[in-house]
Formats: sequence, structure tokens, C-alpha cells
Amino acid sequence: MAKNILVTGGSGYIGSHTVLQLLNGGYSAVVVDNLDNSSAVSLERVKKLAGQNGDRLSFHQVDLRDRPALEKIFSETKFDAVIHFAGLKAVGESVEKPLLYYNNNIAGTITLLEVMSQNGCKNLVFSSSATVYGWPKEVPCTEESPISATNPYGRTKLFIEEICRDVHRSDPEWKIILLRYFNPVGAHPSGYIGEDPLGVPNNLMPYIQQVAVGRRPHLTVFGTDYKTKDGTGVRDYIHVTDLADGHIAALRKLDDLKINCEVYNLGTGNGTSVLEMVAAFEKVSGKKIPLVMAGRRPGDAEIVYASTEKAERELNWKAKHGIEDMCRDLWNWASNNPYGYDSSKGSS
Ligand code: NAD
Ligand code: WQD
Repeated sequence: MAKNILVTGGSGYIGSHTVLQLLNGGYSAVVVDNLDNSSAVSLERVKKLAGQNGDRLSFHQVDLRDRPALEKIFSETKFDAVIHFAGLKAVGESVEKPLLYYNNNIAGTITLLEVMSQNGCKNLVFSSSATVYGWPKEVPCTEESPISATNPYGRTKLFIEEICRDVHRSDPEWKIILLRYFNPVGAHPSGYIGEDPLGVPNNLMPYIQQVAVGRRPHLTVFGTDYKTKDGTGVRDYIHVTDLADGHIAALRKLDDLKINCEVYNLGTGNGTSVLEMVAAFEKVSGKKIPLVMAGRRPGDAEIVYASTEKAERELNWKAKHGIEDMCRDLWNWASNNPYGYDSSKGSS
């Protein structure tokens, strides 16, 4: 029998790519998403891409904080594990609306953990973030590097990590994997699913994507005076399909009797500057990205990239794709879907 996985936030960017890998990997996926930051079209497309495997996907438009609705879902299916993506993720918005972030991300997670516990499902994979490394004193960031947060969004990740550690301490039947993602970019190579942010994108690659399709005039480069090879910020960009595979590896790890509450970085171990990403995108797309050089963005770190040793060793997982693959697949998605999942949108 296929293992049943509950995927919260499964119609979002990383969730939809992971659901596809789950279905193709022989799992059944039940998605819970309130669609606050995604479109149900993503899952319709996942279903099509998965062919017959798509029959093992179901979707509930439910907010995680709606306890009766969540309890009903758990009463209908016995889950082997939960992958918990659901959360709000815009750093700037979290500064303006901290209570919204604490309520949605933290109260949502607590409700989920309570309902899981009541139903005897104590296997969890949680989406944490490299944001918990703040401005790292040393790179690469290892899972033992000091953690901190500079904004409410980052604090929700820190707090949820701590909540998970406490839950495990209180009841060692729990097996929890905290995955710290670095910078997920790209799209499924089919160009049929990808990232579709609402409003003005906060992140580099979605912004470049919108410049390339003519939705925005130029990219503003935030900071040209960092102590990096070309003065621009350095990050560890990881292809979203590699990231999705990391979740399958984490699910397999949950079968390990010795797993407690463990953290793993999901990155490539390579640092790439903003200008290098722009150059890679221009090369594979043939599109010129006009640039406006500007000052640093408040709160940005200079250089962040992952140590990948622990994930390679213990999850038996390693990212396969380089930045040109990421840019090629991003462009394939963007050029086929210039307005994301909503083909009726003419501008934004
Ligand atoms: P996303 O916004 O595309 O997906 C998150 C999904 O969660 C959305 O579909 C949204 O509608 C849903 N959601 C939010 N609150 C909910 C609630 N209360 N109940 C039900 N559904 C809810 O974001 P993503 O990029 O796919 O990120 C997934 C997870 O990974 C998030 O937890 C995010 O913080 C984390 N993460 C993302 C990145 C990144 O750069 N994309 C990096 C590190 C960590
Ligand atoms: C990358 C680089 C920018 C936009 C953020 C969150 C983090 C995590 C991933 C969820 C930086 C530069 C960006 C632009 C630019 N999300 N840039 N012009 O800041 O590493 O991380 O997303 O957990 O929490 O903080 O990613 O893509 O925003 O920026 O020059 O228009 O691109 O300054 O050097 P970041 P990013």
C-alpha cells in the first residue's frame, strides 16, 4: 500500500514540486492549503504531469488553524507522515504585520502538531530556512552554526524549530526533520509548474523572470559594495526539483529507528553572486536584463551558502543541478506562463 503523506501548503511553489515527486515516487498525497498564496491550478497541473499517479492526489482548501476541518481530514486518512510547508514567507510583510505571521505560522503549526499527536501521527518534515543563520560569521553554514533571526518571519522559523525540539523531548515517539532550505529557484523542466508570486516579487529570480517577460523594466541590484567577487551579495541557489527530492530523502530517513529531531541543510554548497545569476539567466534565455545599481537592502547578509555534508552523509541526498539548469528551467516556465497560473492577468 502507498504511504499516505499529508502535505500542508502543497499547492505553493516548493509544495507543488514536492507533491509531484511524491506521486511519482509511489506515495499518496493529501494536500491542505488555504490558497492564500497559491492557485489550485498548480495541483491540477501536478495531477496531469503525474499521469496515472495523479489518482493518488487529493486536495482540501483548508486553513491549518481550522482545527475541526483538520481533525476531519485526519479522521478520514491514517497518515504515515506530514510534510509541513504551509506558512507566510514575505520578510518585509512580516515586519509590518508580525502578529499575522506569528498567528499564521506558529498557531498554524501548533494546531497541526496537536492534531497529529491526537491521531498518533508523529512523523514530521518541516520547512525551515537558511534565514535562521542570519548574517553568518563563517561560511559554509553548518547545522551547528549559531542561529538567530532579524525579522518576524525568521523568528517564526526559529520558534517552530524550538517547538519541534521541545515536542520531541516531551515525547520521544516523535521523529522530526527540520530542513533548512537555502535559496530555491527554477521550475519543473516541463515548464508546466513553477513559482507564481502574487504582487511585486521580493526575491531575486522571480524578479528577473518578470523583467525578462516585460512585466518590469529593470532589476534593482541591492548592494554593490559587499566584500565578494563582484561586490554583490552571494547566495546558495538550489533547483526546486533537487529540493523536492530532498523531501523524499527526508521521508525515507524517518523510517530510521534512531532519528530524533534532526536538522539538515538543503543547499548546493556553492555561492553565486547576483551578477553571476543575472549573467547565467541572460545566457540561457537570450534576454537582456537591464540593471539599476542601488544601495544594500536592509537586513541582507553578505555571503550565505550551505555545508551540505550532513545531508549527503545522513540523507544520502545531493543537489544535482547547477545555476544554468535553474535559469533554463525558470525561463522555460516563465516564457510559457508569463503571468503564472492566471493566464487572464494582463498586468500586475
Ligand atoms: P508558497 O507561499 O508558495 O507556499 C506556501 C503555501 O502555504 C501557500 O500555498 C499558502 O497558500 C499556504 N498557506 C499559508 N498559510 C497557510 C495556512 N494557515 N493554512 C493553509 N495553507 C497555508 O511558499 P514556498 O516558497 O513554497 O515555501 C514553502 C515553505 O518553505 C514555507 O514555509 C517557507 O517559509 C519555506 N521556505 C521557503 C523559501 C523560499 O525562498 N521559497 C526558503 C526557505 C524556506
Ligand atoms: C538574493 C540576493 C539580494 C532581489 C530570502 C529570505 C529568506 C529565504 C529566501 C524564506 C540578495 C539580491 C534580490 C532584487 C537584488 N526565504 N536581490 N534585487 O535575501 O537570500 O533570502 O529568500 O525563508 O528568508 O530572506 O533571497 O532572492 O531575496 O535575494 O539584488 O530585486 O539577491 O540583495 O543578495 P535572500 P533574495
